[in-house]
Parts: sequence; structure tokens; C-alpha cells
Amino acid sequence: MSLNSTQLKLVSLLADGCFHSGERLAQTLDMSRSAIWKHLKVIREVSGLVVDSVRGKGYRLADGLELLTPHGIGGQLSPASNRRLRDVVVHQEIDSTNSWLMAQAASGAPGGIACLAERQSGGRGRHGRQWISPFGSNIYLSLLWRFELAPTQLTGLSIACGVAVAQALAGIGVRGVALKWPNDVLWQRRKLAGLLLEVGGEAGGPSYVVAGVGINTRLSHTQAQGIDQPWVDLASIPGLQGPIRNRLAGQVLDRFVALMVQYGEYGLEPFLESWQQFDHFAGEQVQLNFGANRLSGKYLGIAPDGSIRLEEEGEIRTYNSGEVGICRPPE
Ligand code: BTN
Repeated sequence: MSLNSTQLKLVSLLADGCFHSGERLAQTLDMSRSAIWKHLKVIREVSGLVVDSVRGKGYRLADGLELLTPHGIGGQLSPASNRRLRDVVVHQEIDSTNSWLMAQAASGAPGGIACLAERQSGGRGRHGRQWISPFGSNIYLSLLWRFELAPTQLTGLSIACGVAVAQALAGIGVRGVALKWPNDVLWQRRKLAGLLLEVGGEAGGPSYVVAGVGINTRLSHTQAQGIDQPWVDLASIPGLQGPIRNRLAGQVLDRFVALMVQYGEYGLEPFLESWQQFDHFAGEQVQLNFGANRLSGKYLGIAPDGSIRLEEEGEIRTYNSGEVGICRPPE
């Protein structure tokens, strides 16, 4: 179930976190107070937003809400990214920003389209997992880009995209961001952001990619119940102040656009050194999981093609698939 346009308007009116009387809301939306009350009930149930109701004061969104706007995001883009981006589309709700752009790509849309959403009803993670995507919190952002390269030449892009997200987070003041191969973004060994890259095109090129990132900005424990690994949100990281959703989304997008251009010209090489700056796990014993199978070894960082290097019984081997397991953080 999703919010209808009236409910979305009501959420925008309450987004400032201040109290609004039922009477005033009813006047603004041209409906009765009891209709307002009913819509707020749906908003609570469907979105999980906490709406305070206080007699004599009215209603407010307990934590306030910074809704995404193309203007707020666009304000973070460099002139070069602005020129290269064709469109920035913000959906109130969609199944998945990646799926939407993959469908656009399949029907011939040009590269340079960014898609964001306030909520995903079918957010997708790697390895067929779901990506928990409640309304108005977190960032769900995807970018469609077209290349002359063959799809097989795009394998290193996921490494480059991880670097871009880690740099954007560091840029807004998050200290201690780490990358776990190939592109999980962690803070204190808990997952803060994840990337899903989907590629299509002709075997010998041209090709396209949809690079999607989900960043946990604010996630309640109830909303996070379905997450099967240690996680963290930006709201729990000390030292971050003020509205950050538009700023962070814009800065990630800006870096994504720049990296697509750079990768198209030079490949993965320019990103390897930056990846290492965020690699906190070198020398640790890790598992590499392939579905039901797993192997373990000492993690030795990444190879120039972006694959993972492991030392197993004295031999160094590289792998380009699998999921890395590291030790859990202390509870
Ligand atoms: C992972 O770590 O498993 C990858 C998570 C990727 C989530 C993002 S949210 C925006 C985009 N749309 C999706 O459906 N998935 C990606």
C-alpha cells in the first residue's frame, strides 16, 4: 500500500516538524478535520512515520522530515555534472529506482538520467536480497549511464562507485568510513550503504549501467527488522548536524557522474589508490561466501582489475565474485 497524493501533501505540510492544528490542515487541504485524522492514521500505518498528536496544538512529525527535491540535489552538482546530467527524477514512491532506470534503458532512454525515491516498495539488494526502503528516510538513488565499452569492461565500476559513496560520506563529515569488497560501505563494521550495479548492452559494446545506492540516513529498529547483518544509520553517527539528505544525495550524484566519465576514459586504474584509503580490513582473516559454499583466507586487498586477493594456505588467489564475511562488531 502506498500514500496517495493528499497524504503526500499532508506529509509535506508536516515536514517542518512543527505543530499544525487540525483546523488549519483541514482548511489548507479543503477537507474536514475528521478526514485529516483518517489520512494521518494511514500515514502512520503505511509509512511508519511518527505523527505526534497533542490536544490544543495539533499534529507534527516527531522527527521532522527533509524531503528530496531536484532543486536541493541540483544545488550540489558541479557545472560539469549539471551539463552531463539529462534529468534528475524524484519519485515519491516507486518499486525500485534501479528497476525503473533499467526499464528506461531497455526502451532506449539516453544515459545521464538519475532517479531517486522517497520510498521503494520493492527495493533490491545484491544477491537477491530486499533493500529496506521506508518513506522519507534514507537515500535511494540510481544513475543510468551509457558506454561504448563492452559490458565485461564495466566490472570495475562497482569498485569505483563504492569509492564515490565513501568519499561523499567523508565529505559531509562522516569519519571512519570503510569499504568492504566489492562496495559495501561500513562504519564501525556495520553496513551504512550498499550498491547494486546492473549492466546491459551488446556483447562487444555499446553497453549501459544502472548504478544504484542505498544509504541509511535514519532507520528505526522496527523498520530494520528484516536486515540480516549489522547495520548503522547516519542519525546514530555522532557529529553530523543539519539536513543532510539533499546534500548527500547531490554529492553522491556529482561523484557518480564524474566517475562514469573518468571510468569511460581510463578504466578502474585512477580509483585503486582511493579504494585502498577506505580499505580497513587488509590482513584480516575473512570468509568468501558463494551461496552455500565458502572459503576462508587472509584478505590482501584488491587486484588492479578490482577482484579480491586472498591468501589461502600460503597461496595468493584472486576472485571476482562472492560475498565477503568479516568478524561481527561487538554487540
Ligand atoms: C546491497 O548492498 O545489497 C545493495 C543495496 C542497493 C540498494 C539500492 S537503493 C537504490 C537502488 N534501487 C534498488 O532497488 N536497489 C538500489
